[in-house]
Amino acid sequence: MRIRVLHQSVETYAANYIQQKINSVGASRFVLGLPTGSTALAMYARLRELHQQGQLDFQQIVTFNMDEYVGLPPTHPQSYHYYMEKELFSAVNIPLQNTHILNGQADDLQAECRAYEDAITQVGGIDLFIGGVGRNGHIAFNEPGTPFDIRTHLVTLAPATLKANARFFDNDISRVPTHALTVGTGTVLDARELLFMATGAVKASAVATLAHAPNPDEPLTALKLHPNALLLADEEAASLLPATLSDVEIIHE
Ligand code: GLP
Repeated sequence: MRIRVLHQSVETYAANYIQQKINSVGASRFVLGLPTGSTALAMYARLRELHQQGQLDFQQIVTFNMDEYVGLPPTHPQSYHYYMEKELFSAVNIPLQNTHILNGQADDLQAECRAYEDAITQVGGIDLFIGGVGRNGHIAFNEPGTPFDIRTHLVTLAPATLKANARFFDNDISRVPTHALTVGTGTVLDARELLFMATGAVKASAVATLAHAPNPDEPLTALKLHPNALLLADEEAASLLPATLSDVEIIHE
């Protein structure tokens, strides 16, 4: 894998990268895996801007979001359905039938997970999976200890994640949903390309796990198993990372 430590905006870089990838396939379909979370906000702002400037067409884009809380209706401002509608879908020309988000209110959550995997398979897999990094190193909602080959599944959120996400629920941890549906680490690793983002000192210890061999207790290290994975980090997020690593190319720009 590669890590780019950026002196410019990680989120803008990511959005421009996505635009270039999409435009490079011309009018062909392009399948994106998408994150939510605060890191992705500025990335979506830049994607909206590129669309408004006529530089990015979403007509042929298919999207699969990473995760969704169990039990929150799409109208709940902290649901990832609400987030995606607000930050991207309502502002660009993506056909709504091309967008996919796990339904955390499904009667049969296991069946919902299986159907999600099937839908990804049906479109021929994900071309580029964009991701954020949890403070505890989780990717999507694959918490430390989750096997790397797991597929889309129901997860019980780690206490650290409930604490980290309480800021979105009036700092009231009791209001954070305890469960979520998430693509598996295996689902993420199946994508043809990975682009992850980490910003700020709160992500430094998660990024520093990349000094270790891949192990499920440190979910971000799964990226090292992928043939085409790139992590964009700002200097704060990269601050605990050794200057060089034998198995990771680190580029400063
Ligand atoms: C959340 C989401 C992840 C996201 C991560 C980082 O819990 N489930 O998909 O990548 O944690 O979020 P943030 O960017 O807000 O730090």
